Amino acid sequence: MKVTMSVIKADIGGYVGHSDTHPEMIARADEMLAKPKQDGLLIDYHVTKCGDDLQLIITHQKGVDNEEIHKLTWDIFIECTEIAKKLKLHGAGQDLLADAFSGNVRGMGPGVAEMEFDERGSEPVIVFMADKTSSGAWNMPLYKIFADPFNTIGLVIAENMHNGFAFEVHDVKESKKITFNTPEEIYDLLVFIGAPSRFMVKAIYHRDSGNIAAVSSTQRLALIAGRYVGKDDPVCIVRSQGEFPAVGEVLEPFASPILVEGWMRGSHMGPLMPVAVCDSTPTRFDGPPRVTAAGFQVSGGKLIGPRDMFADKSYDLARQQANEMADMMRSHGPFEPHRLPLEEMEYTTMPQVMKKLEGRFTDLE
Ligand code: 13P
Ligand code: 13P
Ligand code: MG
Ligand code: MG
Repeated sequence: MKVTMSVIKADIGGYVGHSDTHPEMIARADEMLAKPKQDGLLIDYHVTKCGDDLQLIITHQKGVDNEEIHKLTWDIFIECTEIAKKLKLHGAGQDLLADAFSGNVRGMGPGVAEMEFDERGSEPVIVFMADKTSSGAWNMPLYKIFADPFNTIGLVIAENMHNGFAFEVHDVKESKKITFNTPEEIYDLLVFIGAPSRFMVKAIYHRDSGNIAAVSSTQRLALIAGRYVGKDDPVCIVRSQGEFPAVGEVLEPFASPILVEGWMRGSHMGPLMPVAVCDSTPTRFDGPPRVTAAGFQVSGGKLIGPRDMFADKSYDLARQQANEMADMMRSHGPFEPHRLPLEEMEYTTMPQVMKKLEGRFTDLE
């Protein structure tokens, strides 16, 4: 059977500051999804959080970019914004950048990752969710999962993966896309996805079958709004086992924390720490950035789960390393490379400062 999985998320108010999602919002979102499930619009749903981002994980049979599904999630974000306003939560409605819904939440602020697939005999799916980081944060993990045999031994020893995966990469500044075939084009691929503030892995396909393996949210709030409005805090759906990497191969990249952009005011680099959902509450310097992983077996479209995959003790050392990396980065204070490179500040903070200093810069001798 064909199933669509939609993960749609937004930060519509933080509790306290930007550290967490208020339980009343989660409860309301849950309530608002119960009726459409009863009415058959949805097969199943799970509401969760990653830090101050409200996460709606939905299965249905309407395909991707469906207006009814998107409208439902938009209405939930609007309704929960009312709760945020009532409780005077921080940044109520933060990510809702449009006044009214118009057909699709894409480009309106919420993050969206959606895929339609033919459900297999066993369909393990991992939904990754991150806070205090930007959409390109999935580039390196996705590369490791689907193209790096040091991470995914299945690429070497599983015959059904030997011909590799195709990476669809988006240039979010120029609004262009290109597809690279791995393994033979990994060097070309890395030229682009190694610059994750502009080039993002949008989707990955199994080359032999053409089946979709992964999809991520790639919206950049600052590009939509033309100013800094909170970080993208992206999500990513990854299918696993069979012709795709095993669950352990999908999770493995996060055992070695990497530096990502998005910490404090969306303007700093920091380590991406894998955590259980209950620990996805960034407080130190509003961070460091977090990633959670909800694991499901999809059965007739039903979400059997979640299992809180990073609750496992085997990520303790990664968390320890991330805390040490956080100290090292913090010691740079307002200096790069803790602070984002100038190019990134140029369409957020720099213009206002430059305007104020107009006329004060004079030519060098
Ligand atoms: P399955 O045979 O259950 O797909 O598991 C493969 C595996 O051993 C993953 O490590
Ligand atoms: P959010 O994007 O999670 O709202 O975080 C804003 C921020 O950077 C707080 O310092
Ligand atoms: Mg916030
Ligand atoms: Mg957030």
